[in-house]
Amino acid sequence: MNKVVCITGAARRIGAVIAATFHAAGYNVVIHHNQSVKEAETLAESLNKKRPDSVITIRADLVTNFSASELIKTVVDAWGRLDVLVNNASAFYPTPFGEIKEYDWDILIGSNLKAPTMLTQAAASALAESDGSIINIVDIHADRPLKNYPVYSIAKAGLVALTKSTAKELGPEVRCNAVAPGAILWPEQPDHDAEHQDIIERTALKREGTPEDIANTVLFLADSAPYITGQIIAVDGGRTLQS
Ligand SMILES: NC(=O)c1ccc[n+]([C@@H]2O[C@H](COP(=O)([O-])OP(=O)(O)OC[C@H]3O[C@@H](n4cnc5c(N)ncnc54)[C@H](OP(=O)(O)O)[C@@H]3O)[C@@H](O)[C@H]2O)c1
Repeated sequence: MNKVVCITGAARRIGAVIAATFHAAGYNVVIHHNQSVKEAETLAESLNKKRPDSVITIRADLVTNFSASELIKTVVDAWGRLDVLVNNASAFYPTPFGEIKEYDWDILIGSNLKAPTMLTQAAASALAESDGSIINIVDIHADRPLKNYPVYSIAKAGLVALTKSTAKELGPEVRCNAVAPGAILWPEQPDHDAEHQDIIERTALKREGTPEDIANTVLFLADSAPYITGQIIAVDGGRTLQS
């Protein structure tokens, strides 16, 4: 029986590459998505062509009327097991101090922290049965807050704490680690060119990373790191070495 991975926010960008990477490694894949219905279906179709009945999609808003236990039940019902949960889905937008609304708190904390907490709790017993693991996608800005993004930075800092707490609470059966990307894929809104150049300048490897850099690290933590738990691996080209 193939191992099963569930990846949140996996229809596009980094999540989609994580899905394809685990699929290529022989996993059956659950692509969670919300608004990107077409992208999720196209990705599932292309992966199912390579290996029939190896991918399903699940649509859920992780913030509004979200039931983590329902989502995990659908995942486990698909193939009778769950080996890896990747909490990748994330809302990301600025919330300068003075302009923070409760709505922003609900969306940013909800998607980046509350949903991963509830999914972790809901998935714990299935993961324990498979000696499974959880990988949370955090951000180097969990440690060094991103200017004008306090609520996002708070949410990712919380996700780092969740990673360490989960490793403690769910060990020895379940491991939990996090990957902290640096500059990988720029947000899709324009007008970031100057900021972009500045960040690359202050990155030791003088370039952006790729979604594959993140996906390969996630796969490593899931498959090849049986004595690693509670750790945060920065995949940032040395960005955090610089001021
Ligand atoms: N891109 C980077 O360079 C970078 C840098 C640092 C950290 N990261 C982290 O790496 C991860 C992936 O980054 P990314 O840039 O690929 O992410 P992204 O495109 O900004 O978001 C990934 C997915 O999250 C889902 N999502 C957001 N809010 C949701 C909600 N309320 N309910 C359900 N799904 C929701 C969306 O799914 P739908 O489209 O289906 O709605 C979206 O496609 C994120 O955790 C991000 O914080 C990325």
